[in-house]
Amino acid sequence: LRLSKRFAFSASHRLHSGRLSDQENRRLFGKCNNPFGHGHNYVLEVSVSGPPDPRTGMVVPRSQLDAVVEHAVLADLDHANLNQDLPEFNNVVPTTENLALFIDRRLRHSWQERFGNGPVRLEKIRIEETPRNSFEVVSEPT
Ligand code: NI
Repeated sequence: LRLSKRFAFSASHRLHSGRLSDQENRRLFGKCNNPFGHGHNYVLEVSVSGPPDPRTGMVVPRSQLDAVVEHAVLADLDHANLNQDLPEFNNVVPTTENLALFIDRRLRHSWQERFGNGPVRLEKIRIEETPRNSFEVVSEPT
């Protein structure tokens, strides 16, 4: 049984690769290469799966899911400048592809800390940068 919950956060970024020339960056990223950056209202959907706990009838109490996402993701990302505030993006372009992988790593780590190898597993994260594009990271079955 899969449970999905959506979270929202706002962050700014500038798409610029140190591995490309300024001209190549402008050509590739267009307006998103603007030195002053720009913001997005991201929507993050986290999916976990497992059986409902026989005592609670829930896969996971929502408050516990919220706490893990808050701690692992939202605390550092909400209202952040991704390029400057997160060391992970010092040398990695903060595209939403890379942001999705970053969130997946963070969440996986916190999920393991909080729930260990319990019956509920983190299955997938999905992030929308705009209503027109989204990115998913799907876990390998363990
Ligand atoms: Ni952007």
